[in-house]
Amino acid sequence: PLDEPFHNEPDTDVSVPANQRWAARIAAQIADRAWFEALPVPDPLGPEDVERVVATGRAAAEQWRARGARERAEILNRAADVLAERRAHLLAVAGAEAGKTLDQGDPEVSEAMDFCRYYARRALELEEVDGARFVPDRLVLVTPPWNFPLAIPTGSTVAALAAGVAVVHKPAPETRRCSTAVVEALWEAGVPRDVLQLVDSVEGDTGRALVAHPGVDRIVLTGAYETARMFGTWRAGRALTAETSGKNAMVITPSADRDRAVWDLVTSAFGHAGQKCSAASLGILVGSVATSARFRRQLLDAASSLVVDWPQNLQAKVGPVISEPGDTLRRALTTLEPGEQWLLEPEPLDGTGRLWRPGIKTGVAPGSFFHRTECFGPVLGLMAARDLPEALALQNAVDYGLTAGLHSLDPEEISAWVDLVQAGNLYVNRGITGAIVQRQPFGGWKKSSVGLGAKAGGPNYLAQLGTWEKAPFDE
Ligand code: SER
Repeated sequence: PLDEPFHNEPDTDVSVPANQRWAARIAAQIADRAWFEALPVPDPLGPEDVERVVATGRAAAEQWRARGARERAEILNRAADVLAERRAHLLAVAGAEAGKTLDQGDPEVSEAMDFCRYYARRALELEEVDGARFVPDRLVLVTPPWNFPLAIPTGSTVAALAAGVAVVHKPAPETRRCSTAVVEALWEAGVPRDVLQLVDSVEGDTGRALVAHPGVDRIVLTGAYETARMFGTWRAGRALTAETSGKNAMVITPSADRDRAVWDLVTSAFGHAGQKCSAASLGILVGSVATSARFRRQLLDAASSLVVDWPQNLQAKVGPVISEPGDTLRRALTTLEPGEQWLLEPEPLDGTGRLWRPGIKTGVAPGSFFHRTECFGPVLGLMAARDLPEALALQNAVDYGLTAGLHSLDPEEISAWVDLVQAGNLYVNRGITGAIVQRQPFGGWKKSSVGLGAKAGGPNYLAQLGTWEKAPFDE
């Protein structure tokens, strides 16, 4: 019930034999192409439908808001239970459509449930604060990414619904079925279909008409910085809340627990085949770590031991990339820039072009392509720094500022680093992906965020989905 305190949902314990049988059934489902092809996808949206969708959403928003925060919160809190009941289905869809391995998909379902329960509780606190009253936007267009096709579509949508806003949900083209599964769960929990509309992933003029429409009060986008810029141009200054790209590094100093650091770097770099905005793309090795043959050997061994396979293999730790690599990722996977060498050369493992043994390149030069470009795939670059200030300079010398990591057991190093590093989410002696709702609100600096004030999964996120009206209220 809603009055119980929030807690983070645990992931599935696959040491339990019954859960292993459950996982085996999911694997069989992922392998079943006929099942996948029969899954529903949203209705196509034509240019003539845009006005109707916007008008429907705006009208529905009035009723949704009038139901009050508690009733909305109860529905969204219940949505977490529907997601729990459908965990196996969601994991199968994410495996088949997005290439999510079970170890990556399962925490996404937990996170999606966390968003429902967390934002439901925050909605109860939202309506009136210190003599000001929250007036929600009426209609938000949510455009989630394909890389977290369960958690982010749920979180962005539920935040708006909790705040009292109607939503038009436009899936990423790559993960329409995942979005459909999420939206169906929210409908099942009691969100009316006109309050939460699902439209097909529209490109071209129809997409632009929707994004630019004056009846859409706000866009909530998670995606590439370039997409946010394009949307911003189309909307000419109207509200856009975007969580965008990253080029994230983990610094490892000589005082670090190197065994831990190796594992945290490898899992942060190669989980979901490196396709997380939060992923570690660079390891910046300080002083004796940079020159240590033993450290390089450990890194090589750890990366080589990851099972790379399609998600119907439940042992897989690195799954496929979402599509055949485009120019940027292909360059990162197949080319060495001046000064670079392969510690582990990436290798395509089957004829699809999507399954790659992860790669590690050493000698990435300051200011080079790999230092500064988000590549979004299973390749990690190593840079060397003399000392912590030099490492920080390399870490900060990128346009983005999403996540950043430090492995160090020296309290002075840690506090110096925390003061100076330019990123939204800082992780010390831990991997740099997998922010936990409420404990680690998530959001970036610099070009990692456009118009994003408060972080997702944190206490102030809902308050930015509307305006604040000062008393005396205009009744
Ligand atoms: N929330 C994800 C993470 O922390 C990124 O979107 O890895």
